[in-house]
Amino acid sequence: MNYDYEFFKKSADYVLDKIDFKPEIGLILGSACGSVADEIEDQVVIDFESIPNFLKSTVKAMAGTLILGTLNGKKVACMNGRFHYYEGYTFEQLVIPIRLFKLLGVGTTILTNAAGGVNMSYRPGDVMIIKDHLKFMGASPLRGHNVEEFGPRFFDVTQMYTPKLRELAKKCAKDTKLKIHEGNYFYWTGPQFETPAEINAIRILGGDAVGMSTVTESLTAAHCGMDLLAMSLITNVAAGILDQPITTEEVREMGQIASAELKKLVRNIVKEI
Ligand code: HPA
Repeated sequence: MNYDYEFFKKSADYVLDKIDFKPEIGLILGSACGSVADEIEDQVVIDFESIPNFLKSTVKAMAGTLILGTLNGKKVACMNGRFHYYEGYTFEQLVIPIRLFKLLGVGTTILTNAAGGVNMSYRPGDVMIIKDHLKFMGASPLRGHNVEEFGPRFFDVTQMYTPKLRELAKKCAKDTKLKIHEGNYFYWTGPQFETPAEINAIRILGGDAVGMSTVTESLTAAHCGMDLLAMSLITNVAAGILDQPITTEEVREMGQIASAELKKLVRNIVKEI
């Protein structure tokens, strides 16, 4: 399925009709990464379901709303919920949220996710600012007909995780109790976690953390020239490092424990952008 510009514009026109401002920052926050959304003032809340040509959430725990309003003095658009390849969407569909942001006027996107720590020095509760990623799953969200209005057919990704935003995140983290790393995110399509042998391979290949989201959104943001910051909350050490299975409970619990500090970090960053 290849979408044209009008397809995306239809979603954006619907949302723009409901607000009298243009958000400058877009937020997509992982399920385990704290409800920054609660702190958005003067909220306009739009169900994903009601937006024409938008995707429907399949993950029960996720709210599935687009929230527009003011966070720490900045106009934001925040996706409360996100879409993953493992839910059954195609890669081509996964461009939809970021292209909506772009057409709403967003120039900077902040993404957070939950991830397993592959780097032996990472501990649950730490945060990794994504410096770069590895995506060895063959397909790309930008495959197929190129919509020139968003960006060129071939595009550079050498500095897609904007260096000045990574520096800003490090500076803002000093105000929190979070331990910060900077490293490479390894994209894993899931939904199964990795085998211990896969984690060994990921480490050898240069991955520091592994997770099932973010990269499709990052590539879409890079294609349309957005500034981008992405951060992983390390919710567990990756498979095979400890002599125990990985559970969704530990992923969720760590998200709750770190939630307040992460919220503070995101708020501080938004203020300084
Ligand atoms: N692997 C992949 N995705 C994850 C993990 C993990 O260990 N933890 C949280 N999301």
